[in-house]
Amino acid sequence: MNAQPQRIEHQLTDKGYVPVYTTAVIEQPWSGYTPIDHDVWAQLFERQQKILVGRASQAFLDAQRAMHMSAHEIPKFDDLNKVLRAATGWELIGVQGLLPELDFFDHLANRRFPVTWWIRTPEQMDYLSEPDLFHDLFGHVPLLMNPVFADYMQAYGRGGVKAHGIGPEALANLTRLYWYTAEFGLIRDPDGLRIYGSGILSSKGESIHCLESDAPNRIGFNLERIMRTRYRIDTYQKTYFVIDSFEQLFEATQPDFTPIYARLAQQDSIPAGHVREGDRVFNRGTGEGWLTDGDV
Ligand code: PHE
Ligand code: FE
Repeated sequence: MNAQPQRIEHQLTDKGYVPVYTTAVIEQPWSGYTPIDHDVWAQLFERQQKILVGRASQAFLDAQRAMHMSAHEIPKFDDLNKVLRAATGWELIGVQGLLPELDFFDHLANRRFPVTWWIRTPEQMDYLSEPDLFHDLFGHVPLLMNPVFADYMQAYGRGGVKAHGIGPEALANLTRLYWYTAEFGLIRDPDGLRIYGSGILSSKGESIHCLESDAPNRIGFNLERIMRTRYRIDTYQKTYFVIDSFEQLFEATQPDFTPIYARLAQQDSIPAGHVREGDRVFNRGTGEGWLTDGDV
């Protein structure tokens, strides 16, 4: 039972005609998962568990244990929700594919995390270009058990609703922040740099690359710098940003972004791989293997 979001029609926007996808919020059709679906989950789960020892942030590992997710079978959202609601008041809702931005923000603002119900096929174990159940559930959901990160995600949702009302440039600035934190963030744990971004946590290759390769930059968190920095969607990141703690992330994003968006509108974006004066550099990337074009 593997369904991809269906392209149903095209809609005219200021970017021309763009495809519109089905976006239904649906109950997880748990009994419809096949033995192959459960097996894909089990294999991915076990593979990442091993890789993440000494690589994932302690907060993630603790949260994951508290949620009782296991390789045994695809978890039931209803079961996870009992634990999650009691811990931080968040809940999971099943979705078919990517939601329109405003819907996504509205769910987060109300402590609902949309989780893609379908899982990749055995042929897609190492890479697929859109979020599936494994990315969403294994990668994003555990940290919603962490009170500070849980509050950050809700604040991000509220900020998204606001940015959506300001315009596409503000939205692009905010999306970069999400990309370089919730998706590809690193954190300084007592024993060294660790992963908390779900785009990394759900990828075998990038879990190793982001910490152990000399190629990428690893640079200290800086809000406005990140909001100007372009990113990669089809290769490993050229730069990872490192927070000291979730408290730092939460505090830094508390101010009203309205004047920040206005300021950023006057400044150029920064290429994904650039190191700048004033950056707190943990690693200056060698740039090995980087493609010259393709920054989004
Ligand atoms: N403080 C931001 C604003 O005013 C909202 C926000 C919070 C954005 C947390 C991202 C993360 O728009
Ligand atoms: Fe994601």
